[in-house]
Amino acid sequence: MSGHHVPPVPPSTQQVLETFRAWYRERGHVLLPPASLLRPGTDPVLFTTSGMHPLTDDLARGSHPAGRRLMSVQRCLRTTDVDEVGDDTHLTAFQMLGCWSLGDYPHPTSLRWGYELLTDGFGVPPGLLHATVFGGDGDVPADDDAARLWEGLGVPVERTVEDNWWSNGPVGLCGPDSELFVWTDPATPPSSTPTRDARWVEVANHVSMRFRRGTEGRLAPLGVPCVDVGTGLERLVAVLQGGASVYDTDVLRPWVTHGSSVWGLGPGDVRVVSDHLRASVLLVGDGLAPGHTRQGYVLKRLLRRALTRLWLHDPALRLVDLPDALVGGTGDLFELTVDPRQVRTVLAGQQRSFERVVADGARRVGRLRGAGRLGDDVRRELHETYGLPPEVVGRLLGDEPDGAA
Ligand code: SER
Repeated sequence: MSGHHVPPVPPSTQQVLETFRAWYRERGHVLLPPASLLRPGTDPVLFTTSGMHPLTDDLARGSHPAGRRLMSVQRCLRTTDVDEVGDDTHLTAFQMLGCWSLGDYPHPTSLRWGYELLTDGFGVPPGLLHATVFGGDGDVPADDDAARLWEGLGVPVERTVEDNWWSNGPVGLCGPDSELFVWTDPATPPSSTPTRDARWVEVANHVSMRFRRGTEGRLAPLGVPCVDVGTGLERLVAVLQGGASVYDTDVLRPWVTHGSSVWGLGPGDVRVVSDHLRASVLLVGDGLAPGHTRQGYVLKRLLRRALTRLWLHDPALRLVDLPDALVGGTGDLFELTVDPRQVRTVLAGQQRSFERVVADGARRVGRLRGAGRLGDDVRRELHETYGLPPEVVGRLLGDEPDGAA
């Protein structure tokens, strides 16, 4: 990502947040406080994955105590993309700028406000925008209202089916959506379309949330049609700051600087370690401790992955050397009180148990080597039975590092 469209003075993340909040406040939206990342046990999903997630019941009912125009800046956590973490656009923990109409204004109004926020509010040249809209299927007709709105604004439109249908899962709230993309290659003028060229980066998704899919698969219209808009903050900031990726933004850069200059990590490792630690800090801030099941297990896995990267780079590196300023700054940004001592306690505990597992593994490898048994079955056993990450097993067995990171 990068851009000739960058406003003369790129906005900081805080300025982007302020612009967003002021924009929708002026249009009558009430700001809701962010909900915890941890979903209650009644939710089959472990973590808050989008801005609308904590509002699912309100949207289904079509009413909320705070009114019919709502907005939030919601911390979110997604582990489904964990293998893509390290690329330019995916983060495990991120913030979503959300706004909603609960049976108030219609979908095209939301699209127009979203367009004006980007162009007037953030200064993105209109010629760098592209929209996608739902092209229709056997159940729901094409979203001609959205297409007309975009055409009226001079924004090119691509029609898709699956890519422009939003749902929370196989059952529940869903509807056609329209996404807005920004062209991010400064070297060439915009070309092609969002589904064909990754230089189009999605910055907003406006869902016309007006159906519920039942367990038998059938769509039923909602009594109160809603509009649900979500924008990934870090991705938007990357576009507006003209950096090559979310890691080049003002909020991720201090993490990257620490990981590369203090820990000496390579560019691939530094991204993964920064991402996982940042997500872990937020989970600890929301009161989670590492554990063997459910949410606690996810936190443990994130820290294990970070520890593995650090250990492979240099076994002397310690997670507790994470500066308090990164912990506190992340808490402030996410509007969450995070106690750096609590974070250090969790990191130190995980570091100790990782070191125990590795030391145990090294002893076992020594014994197995003495017995002449170091085949694939042993690698599997060390991983599956003794909990050693495969890369650590490889290193203990003397495999050459792949050097990729
Ligand atoms: N529900 C949509 C999303 O998560 C828009 O908020 O992208």
